[in-house]
Formats: sequence, C-alpha cells, structure tokens
Amino acid sequence: TTEIEWWDYDDVGELADAIAGDVQFVIESALDARGSAVIALAGGKTPFPAYEKLAQAKLDWKRVTIIPTDERVVPLGDPLSNVTGLAKIFLPKGARVMPIVPQATPDYKAAGRSADALMQDLHWPLDFCLLGVGGDGHTASIFPGPDFDEALNGPKERRALGVLPEPLPAEAPVPRVSLSRAAIASTRALMIAITGDAKRKVVEQAIKQGPSSAYPIGRVLSEVELPVDIHWAP
Ligand code: 6PG
Repeated sequence: TTEIEWWDYDDVGELADAIAGDVQFVIESALDARGSAVIALAGGKTPFPAYEKLAQAKLDWKRVTIIPTDERVVPLGDPLSNVTGLAKIFLPKGARVMPIVPQATPDYKAAGRSADALMQDLHWPLDFCLLGVGGDGHTASIFPGPDFDEALNGPKERRALGVLPEPLPAEAPVPRVSLSRAAIASTRALMIAITGDAKRKVVEQAIKQGPSSAYPIGRVLSEVELPVDIHWAP
C-alpha cells in the first residue's frame, strides 16, 4: 500500500491544466536524468484534453516514447484505438508513439504476447504512468474476466498481456491488450485522473478495501509502493 494524495479541481479544464503541467515536469525530469523518457498514457476519454495541453509544452519530444496503458484489439485508425488518439496529438510534435497491437491480429492473447515482446525493448521501469478508472473499477484494461488473475499475478517480468473483459465493456466491446499490474506498479511515477462522484466513490472504496478489493484499481494500488496523486474534477 501507498500514500495517496487527492487533488480536487473545480472543473475539467483545471484538471487538464494540472495534469498537463505535472506530466511535463515528469518528462523534463526524466530527460534531465536519463536522456530519454518512456511514459504510459491512459486511453478512454477523460485525459485527452490534458494531452492536447501537454502537447503544447516546449519539450525535446523526439526523446519521448509514449505507449498506451492499454489498447483495444482493433486496427490502427479505428476510432476505438487509444494509440490512434495519442498519435494524432503527439506524432506531429516528434514523439515516438508506439502501436502495441499488431495489425494482423490472430487473437488477443497473441496480440498480448507481441505487445509484451515490444515492450521488453523499452527502458524500464517506465518514467511515468497515467491511469484512468472505469465506473466498474477497471484500470488500464485490467478487467474482471478470464484473464484477471494473469493480469494481476502473472510473472513479474511480463509487461503486457491480452485480456478478454467479461462482460465486454459497452464503450469498446472488444478484447484488449493491457499493461500488467507488475509493469504499472514498477513505474517511477504514477498518477490517476478521474471525473465524477461515482468514480470517486469507487476509488475511495477500492483504496479502503486494499489488496482484497473487488475493484481492479484497488488490487493495482495495493501493489504500488510510491506515492500516488489522484486528480479529480466533478
Ligand atoms: C481504455 C482505458 C481505460 C480508461 C477507463 C476510463 O482504453 O478504456 O485506458 O482504462 O482509462 O475506462 O475511461 P474514461 O476516461 O473514458 O471514462
């Protein structure tokens, strides 16, 4: 378990400004310390205004690699693809945005193995990870379902795996590739961005429940040893 700090904002505009500022600082620190930065950014909808703002930052973007915390198993260019959304914003800046799902995807498990192999070549631990949380308590694509235990408790060196959420989530009813809990928990800096009272309650409850939480976000946070900032707006 870890130290959690909540940061509350009046609206999503302020939330986006704060996240953009913090992530810029993390990237600058990584570039100073290690010459390059590898960061994982959440998909979903909540953080995209922050990404638009972050992209305005004057940074040596070509030394920055961006991976998604999770990806939907769909072709690049599909509106459901998280990488496609990230690429639109950060590729024009010169960042490397890594697609993690192969284009000819035989099945989600093979896609997961291929993502894992790609990620083994990045520098680890990640410099930073931004997580979103779903109303059901999932984070990245760690959903309850047949792959839940693998995502939580698979081999420590496994960075990513294929996941079949059960039931398939309405917002994107497709299998996923997700960072594993071990990959997320090992990051040098971890931040969560959520909006709304319902998600706040889920996260508060998940933290209270700890390692035996019914919520994936609770199970992930219970493994994290560094302080975590949770940014929230109504
Ligand atoms: C994804 C995500 C996922 C997301 C949450 C919250 O690909 O679906 O990375 O973990 O962060 O579902 O999504 P919203 O911000 O859209 O509510």
